[in-house]
Amino acid sequence: MKKTVRKIQKIKDEGRKITALTAYDYPTAKFLDNAGIDLILVGDSAANVVLGYESTVKITLDEMLMITGAVSRGAKDALIVGDMPFLTYNISYEKAIENAGKFIVAGADAVKIEGGGEYITGLTKRLTGAGIPVMSHLGFTPQYVNTIGGNLIQGKNFETAIKILEAAKKLEEAGAFAIVLEMVPKEAAEFITKNLNMPTIGIGAGNTCDGQILVVNDLIGKFDDFKPKFARKYFDSKNLILEAAKQYIADVQSGDFPNAEESFSVSDEEKTKFENYKQR
Ligand code: KIV
Repeated sequence: MKKTVRKIQKIKDEGRKITALTAYDYPTAKFLDNAGIDLILVGDSAANVVLGYESTVKITLDEMLMITGAVSRGAKDALIVGDMPFLTYNISYEKAIENAGKFIVAGADAVKIEGGGEYITGLTKRLTGAGIPVMSHLGFTPQYVNTIGGNLIQGKNFETAIKILEAAKKLEEAGAFAIVLEMVPKEAAEFITKNLNMPTIGIGAGNTCDGQILVVNDLIGKFDDFKPKFARKYFDSKNLILEAAKQYIADVQSGDFPNAEESFSVSDEEKTKFENYKQR
């Protein structure tokens, strides 16, 4: 059954945890959906873990739309959230709504936008008013890494945690259906979660958030340029791919691959013709 933003809220209201992962392609989205994940974020983390850019600010709108389409064709039940990339929503309300609409046309059910403050809160209100559900993102917001000054934990004391809560409250009032809290100490994340009605989805924010999200390539060990402290590897894709590729190379070199079952063949009659052929 298709998950909607109302169902995501219901999971929180019933005291259950919301499960979320990122995905960037059709088969992975299909497998996560079959596993029963509630929400799939087509994250701009694709910039790092799929496209090999050193920063998320490098990924383009067209690249994000292409992978959003692939994910939406794979996942039938999970709520699909498209992550609006750098400078596709902080330019003007008009342009932002037009770009958000492209995610919905590509197959997303909602969009995620990073940050708070007057402009983003106003945009959240306009997008939800236009029928585009919004997932907010506070705490460490990677698209603002250059102004933040590095990958820094946010909300490390009461004063800064309350600022996050106040910004989150405004986003909630503007209509956001959920909020990602990234790299926030667990006590601060718990405090923020307790004072919001919308669900909080944590990444590096302890286990008291209403849900959790991880980058799928961290989960399956398919990215090793860096490992965030908060990521947990459930599967070792890197070494499995390495082993499979090494075995394949050896099998091709030894002539073991392809074997008879992996090849097509002609009838015995045709075989004889090949064998009896003499070049003139
Ligand atoms: O792009 C992404 O993967 C994200 C998650 C870290 C929440 O924004």
